[in-house]
Amino acid sequence: DHEQARELLRSKIRSIPDFPSPGILFRDITPALADAEAFTAAVELHLHHIADLDGQLDAIVGMEARGFLFGPILAHRLNLAFVPARKPGKLPAETIAEDYALEYAKNTLQIHADALRPGARVLIVDDLLATGGTAAATTRLIERLGATVAAQLFMIELVALGGRAAQGDHRVEAVLQF
Ligand code: PRP
Ligand code: ADE
Repeated sequence: DHEQARELLRSKIRSIPDFPSPGILFRDITPALADAEAFTAAVELHLHHIADLDGQLDAIVGMEARGFLFGPILAHRLNLAFVPARKPGKLPAETIAEDYALEYAKNTLQIHADALRPGARVLIVDDLLATGGTAAATTRLIERLGATVAAQLFMIELVALGGRAAQGDHRVEAVLQF
């Protein structure tokens, strides 16, 4: 059942102190990806969290790089488009950009200007919500294109970092909380 799957998945998240900088407790999802049973559990749990949005979505936007792990899998399972939000200088056609701060760095994300049609209903997918800077920047990109964010879905929410509050009124779903 779902609680058993959640406990299996939780047991495969590895915590590494002081990575990538002192004071950061890095939640490493690679052991969950490396275990086929946990990987399957993760995909099914992601789908479970947004089951009520069935038929109400047009596209998934995933953020480079770890949003590319589950985003395309979920898009395929739900028969949705997948649109990448990428680090600067990677997308070849016309882009729009947003700067943001995250738990341990600053960066910029870009999206292709023609990637979403106005009115498109979007699910944001990333591995982890920390301060929420990355997700908020992605929401701004999507809304600047005239699309709407139906929900944001993460495998992990780091509750103490307050990323949920940084998303305003947007719906936030997380498979695991730490
Ligand atoms: C990580 C993670 C999220 C973001 C969360 O990405 O995958 O995208 O940080 O942090 P925030 O909520 O404080 O913004 P990172 O920028 O490290 O890049 P990566 O996916 O390329 O590893
Ligand atoms: N991205 C931002 N903060 C993180 C953390 N503590 N662990 C893994 N990825 C992160």
